Amino acid sequence: MAEIVVALDLADADEALRLVDRLPGVRWVKLGPVLYVRSGPRLVTALKDRGLRVFLDLKWYDIPNTVAEAARAAADAGIDLATVHALGGARMIEAARAASREMRLAAVTVLTSFDPAEYWEALGGIGGGPIRGEVVRLTRMAVGAGAGAVVTSIEEVAEVREAVGPDLWVVVPGIRPRALAGDDQRRAGEPRPAIAAGATHLVVGRPIYQAKDPVQVYEELCEAVT
Ligand code: C5P
Repeated sequence: MAEIVVALDLADADEALRLVDRLPGVRWVKLGPVLYVRSGPRLVTALKDRGLRVFLDLKWYDIPNTVAEAARAAADAGIDLATVHALGGARMIEAARAASREMRLAAVTVLTSFDPAEYWEALGGIGGGPIRGEVVRLTRMAVGAGAGAVVTSIEEVAEVREAVGPDLWVVVPGIRPRALAGDDQRRAGEPRPAIAAGATHLVVGRPIYQAKDPVQVYEELCEAVT
């Protein structure tokens, strides 16, 4: 069984709460930087008052002390899961972990917006080749430093799962609900193949909140992950 995490990439807090209040049995929501900057703390309180688990996706990357204090503030607010960039390094992640108490840290490895040439250029031309190995390398480093989850694309779930063993949370965005497994089309991006490869948390935004019937899409997704 995996969790569906509803990405609340909506214009404002009222819209986000209207959506959440329509979804039956919703357990996890994700807040990104846009909505968080607009109405963060108030919205977090409203979501926690509804008994929801909140994934704060601000992808922290800063000096260890600053990230640790951000993690402490998030844990104080009742955030359940928060992202840090693995490239911030082991010391940054260790400092954040030490301040996080019950909150779990999810490491982001290589942004999927990078192509390999652009990624290696950003790293000063050091390294090269496919990014896959880099995802696994950064995952191992982040987990060794205290990350309890990793965010990864559907393509790398199986390798990441193999690298980290059975207990880590593997969070996968970019999930699409159509042609839900059960039929014999097992395209990448659908819930069941992602879970089979080792995903524990599936992040879904637009397919839910842009749907004519968000409730129906959400229920289909829940059915696919149980
Ligand atoms: O709307 P959609 O389902 O594509 O939203 C996915 C969510 O996951 C968005 O909040 C986006 O910021 C995040 N995401 C991510 N990494 C990706 C793709 C999407 O964190 N590679």
